[in-house]
Formats: sequence, structure tokens, C-alpha cells
Amino acid sequence: MSKPSKVWIVDFGSQYTQLIARRVREMSVYSEIVLPDISSEDIVTNHISALILSGGPSSVYEDKAPDIDPKIFTIDIPILGICYGLQLMSRHFGAKVHSDKHREYGRSTIQFRKKSALFQNVEDNTTVWMSHGDHVDSLPEGFDIVAVSENNAPAAIEHRQKPLLGLQFHPEVVHTVEGQKILENFLFGIAGLKQDWTAGHFIEQTSTKIREQVGNGKVLMALSGGVDSSVMGILMYRAIGNQCIPVFINNGLLRKDEQFEVVRKLRKMGLPIRMYNYSAQFLNALKGIKSPERKRKIIGHQFIKAFEEISKKHKDLSFLAQGTLYPDVIESRSVNGPSQVIKSHHNVGGLPKRMKLDLIEPFNSLFKDEVRKIGRELGMSADILNRHPFPGPGLGVRIIGEITAKRLSILRKADDIFIKELINSGEYDRVWQAFAVLIPVKTVGVMGDQRTYENLVALRSVDSSDGMTADWSPIPNAVLSKVASRIVNEVRGINRVVYDITSKPPGTIEWE
Ligand code: XMP
Repeated sequence: MSKPSKVWIVDFGSQYTQLIARRVREMSVYSEIVLPDISSEDIVTNHISALILSGGPSSVYEDKAPDIDPKIFTIDIPILGICYGLQLMSRHFGAKVHSDKHREYGRSTIQFRKKSALFQNVEDNTTVWMSHGDHVDSLPEGFDIVAVSENNAPAAIEHRQKPLLGLQFHPEVVHTVEGQKILENFLFGIAGLKQDWTAGHFIEQTSTKIREQVGNGKVLMALSGGVDSSVMGILMYRAIGNQCIPVFINNGLLRKDEQFEVVRKLRKMGLPIRMYNYSAQFLNALKGIKSPERKRKIIGHQFIKAFEEISKKHKDLSFLAQGTLYPDVIESRSVNGPSQVIKSHHNVGGLPKRMKLDLIEPFNSLFKDEVRKIGRELGMSADILNRHPFPGPGLGVRIIGEITAKRLSILRKADDIFIKELINSGEYDRVWQAFAVLIPVKTVGVMGDQRTYENLVALRSVDSSDGMTADWSPIPNAVLSKVASRIVNEVRGINRVVYDITSKPPGTIEWE
């Protein structure tokens, strides 16, 4: 295979840097995120075809504000600076950057002042997403203004001779209506790249990297039954064969029949999965625990304990592989400081030193739809790949309050009815994720002539592309009615069903 075009995205700390990488990948161009300390020589020796300078929280005049080797602006490589990237480039070309009293934040429109290949087929007055406190005051030397914002501030600039362009807004976020087209214009119209990076390339490169990293060692491949670890398992097994030891841990928090279905399908694809039952240990450790974060921490800890025990049974084991995705990593990370962790995802946080296993997480910069593409390339069937996401802590975060065997049994039945009815009505593949949540709050009902006083179940179904944001799904009333009536009639312990109509944000997808 010939070498694909390669874009480097220089990360100045923006929360959107990964999103830029994803947009570039969506256009079948290979990209890597690099730190600002790259030199112009690195760019040449690594055969980089274009650079994107990301945004970032700093102001270019701050002490310790990240900078870049000025020689990169002299080697004739196409460069797109976004927000901080634009300000940095402008400063290098002698412009003044000013801190605004009024931050420009949110939706705005831009008006063109000059024709540019960057805005080929983009409408004048198009809506863009601004998020900055600084703007360029005087024009950098050799540059023209291409577009201005509603405040008449430069929104896009370009160099008259060199392929250097800058945007004050974020083309990578969905709120910039024609953002994808603008990025396409940069990659293909201006940088002349080829659309030659595919899931096949990812598999090839990742397999080579895994083989180099693993050497003669062995890898414990943790399967949860979800899409991500299933795809990871197949990729890993194809890459290193019997050096990969795929294990499935039953944590007692799985859905009805889940372990058998998943394991049977993956075994059929040649994965020699070993199953371990740790239900008793997990449920014991969770006894009496009500706090969502404590539940998550305990479940993560129990997984590690189980891996530790299992790893002792195998010689030469030096790695643990997980299907961790990029959204798992960001949601577990502090967003605005130490108090802002949204949810501690069960598989994020590393391994204790005593375990002496190195983590392998080749999907930790990917989103779920990208993993599904990789699975398709590996020949995995739609019934594995189109399964809805299922969180590692499983039903543990879908039972509000304490987890007991009885509550698990009630929730399993209700969830199974909901999912089966979605499949029967053709809605399952249309929605991104659906499930039931048990709310152990009793309300009064009447069945026949009898008063009932039982628990509440909430149905949750969302439409999303990556789980980072989501809308509740408008499931047809007839389907909802049938599900509600079946649950109340068939599941003892439930007498009321409600439908969750909260989007993310402000809600999250799971209730805990
Ligand atoms: P939230 O609830 O954070 O969920 O909006 C976003 C997506 O992530 C899944 N999720 C998890 N997945 N480990 C996982 O593997 C976890 O701890 C975890 N918590 C939430 C959730 O099901 C949804 O698809």
C-alpha cells in the first residue's frame, strides 16, 4: 500500500482538538495530533502534507503561552490556523493580537470580503461558531482579510502568496453549518491531499504497532460484550494470534442472556474466549452502596481485581488490552478543574503499579462510529456491530440506589421487553441507544380491582452520533404503549412506566 497523505494537528490545548482529527478522518485523510514542540525538520522528515494549528485556552502574549518553530511558516506547507492557531500565526507575521472586553462566544455569521478557495461553495453570511477572547487587530504582513464577523473583526485571513490561512471560528464543530466544507476546501482544494486513509489503513497500522509493542509477550484481552471490545478482540487476535488471551468476565450486571449471545457470536468468528464468573464478588462489593460515583469506582476496582487473579493463571502476560474510546477518556477527565469530573468511566484511570501489566488501548482516540467502520472492515456482522452501546458498569448504573439481586432481575425483564419490542417494530437500528432504568420509588396503581404499590421504570432512548451529545428519540406512541403495557403486565414489581425526554446536555445518557 502506498503511503497515505498525512496531516499533523498541532494541539494548543483546545477541547476541540480531537474533533478536528475526527473531521479529517471522516474525509478519509490520515491525521495525527502532535505537541507544539515539533520542528520544521520533523515536518519534512515525516512527510507531512498539511498542518492544522488548533485553538487553545491561552492568549498569545501570556507568559508560557505555547509557541511554535517559526521556520514552519517558511517551508511552504499548507497551514490552517484555527482561533489560537490563527492568532499565533498572525503574531509571527507581525500582527497585534488584542484581548477583547467582549468575548465573542457562540453563533455568529461571517461576511466575505474577498474570494478564497477556502470558501469555495460556501454561502455568504454562513453561520459559524465563535469561541474566543482575543482577536487580531492589525493585519499580519502579506495577509488579506477574507471574511469578517458580525463585529467587523477578521474572521478569516489568507496569505497572498503562501498557502497560509487562518480562521477565528471553529470549522470542526457542528454549529459551524458549513464547517466540513471549509475543512474539505483546505485539505483537497488548497493542500491537494488524496482521500486515501481508510479503516483498512487503521487496521494495518494498529496491527503493526501492536506486534512491535508486544514482542513475544502475551496480552489479556478484556471483552465486555460491547461493540468496542468485540472489535478490539478480533483485531488483536488477528494481529498476534494465540499471544492474545480473550477473556469475558461476568460481573453479574449484564442484561438478559447477554454473555451467551455475545460469546457465541465471537467464538463463531474464531475468538477462543474464556469465561469467568465474578458475579458474586461484584455484587458483594456493591452491597449497600447507593452513590453513583462510588458504584463506578467499586466496579472499576473489581474488574482490576478480577484481571489480577486471571493474569496470575497465565505465564508471560505483560499487557492488558481494552476497547476504551475517546469519549470514555474525556468524560472521566476533569473538564474545568478538579471538581468537574462528569462520570468516572469504569475503564479509565490506569492500572495499579503492582499489576505489572501495560495497558493497550488502540481505540482511545476514536469515536464509536469509527470503531463500527473498523469492525465492518474486519468482516464482523451487523448484529454484533449494530448493538447499542452498553456501559462497562452495566445495569449497576441503571438501578438507582442500591443494587440487589431482586432489583437486577426486575430490570433485566423490563429491559428485555423494551429492546425486543424495539427490534420487532424496526426502531432498534434507528435509535442510537435504548434501555430501561429501575427507579425504586413506589407509586400507587390499580390492576383489576386491586390497589398496587410498586416501583417505577423509566425508558430511555437517544439519538446521537458519538454519545457526547444526544437527543431523546421520538419513538412512535404505539410502540411505547405496547412496551408500557407489557412491562406492567409481565414484570412483577413494576406498576408504572415513564419515558425520559431529557437531551444531553443538560442530562447525561445514563442516569448514574
Ligand atoms: P453518559 O451517561 O456519560 O454516557 O452520557 C455516554 C455513553 O457512554 C456510555 N457509558 C459508559 N461506557 N463505561 C463505558 O464503557 C462507563 O463507565 C460508561 N458510562 C457511560 C453510555 O452508555 C453512553 O453510551
